Amino acid sequence: MALIALGVGGGIGAYKAVEVARALQKRGHDVAAIMTRNARRFVTPLTFEAITRRKVITSQWTPGMNADIEHIALATEAKLLLIAPATANVIARFAAGIADDFLTSFHLATRAPILMAPAMNTHMLEHPATQANLATLAARGVRFVEPGAGYLACGWIGRGRLAEPDEIAAAADQCLRGSTSLAGRHVVVSAGPTYEDLDPVRYLGNRSTGRMGLAIADEALARGARVTLVVGPTTLATPAGADVRHVRSAADMHTAVFAAAPSADVVIMAAAVADYTPAAGAAPQKVKKTDGELSIALSRTRDILADLGAWRADRVSPVLVGFAAETERVVEQARAKLASKRVDLVVANDVSRADAGFAVDTNAATLVTRDEAEAVPLQQKRTLASVILDRIETLLATAAPAKD
Ligand code: CTP
Repeated sequence: MALIALGVGGGIGAYKAVEVARALQKRGHDVAAIMTRNARRFVTPLTFEAITRRKVITSQWTPGMNADIEHIALATEAKLLLIAPATANVIARFAAGIADDFLTSFHLATRAPILMAPAMNTHMLEHPATQANLATLAARGVRFVEPGAGYLACGWIGRGRLAEPDEIAAAADQCLRGSTSLAGRHVVVSAGPTYEDLDPVRYLGNRSTGRMGLAIADEALARGARVTLVVGPTTLATPAGADVRHVRSAADMHTAVFAAAPSADVVIMAAAVADYTPAAGAAPQKVKKTDGELSIALSRTRDILADLGAWRADRVSPVLVGFAAETERVVEQARAKLASKRVDLVVANDVSRADAGFAVDTNAATLVTRDEAEAVPLQQKRTLASVILDRIETLLATAAPAKD
């Protein structure tokens, strides 16, 4: 149990911050709420006071505030500063080090780790100013709970919705644990699609966004691992702290993964790698249309995961993990893949479900090893990443010890 300072920003997600406070309490934590002026337009301090059973801090100018030892001590006693929702404005003020209200002053005064759950309109989130501010904060070690996608209060559909309270509370726990379970380990993760160029303007690609692989990379970093992230074309931000190698084609990815594999303790192939590429390579000039049909001869790409399995041969390290997209007989097919590619774990997705797989925030999976098949129910990809890494840590314990 720890004392958590919960900063509530002025966005519609502020009402969900009440549930975040509850979720933290259910995990045994004590919560002290700090509300910005605009947060109080959405929810009253009384709500937080009733839930947290503590006075809610709304301004440093309230009479009595500066004589109140409890509030002054919060900066040193809080074990975590959690901001939910973190609006574009709070993020910008934190990034710039502005201290014009209690929350932003507290941010500079405390030495507690900081976790932010951003929530805002999609365009505000994607704006280069916001992205630059997020990158600045990430470089300073601030951690984030990724906003979810869905219906936003402004009527748009897109990314920017506050993450679910349980997910935020789980991330807070993770920060508090300051996990070092993968310290000294080198984890190589591939993520995203690959693009096989047909000519200078066209390519064969797939609908992978990279979200699952990025969540795994992020989680491995949180556990103290050194992470090499080999990522195909994606619009998502890569986690700060990872050694990122941007690649385009399956062949590029093969080269980058094999460059990192010799020092790896774990290689996780979460990328959706193309199985076929134009047999003649990319045409140097744009292919002009003609009457009639067009056929493109495709040749098989090399299977990176199977090549890793063959390269590792009878050694136990690195631990090799693959993903499989299945629509039927999930465990059986995954186990066949496990054997044919000579890997240790296959994370099998049932892609026949609309709420799992590509371009959604949630995923359901079955973790298939040689001896076991553990069904993991539908959950946020970040939470699934944590379950996958727990399983990998068990596999690592029986493989070779850390190299560095
Ligand atoms: N993979 C790879 N190199 C490829 C193709 C796939 O490393 N050229 C990896 C993927 O990253 C993933 C796993 O292999 O970890 C997927 O295996 P695959 O046999 O391609 O399975 P599916 O995508 O499910 O497709 P299918 O069953 O149709 O073969």
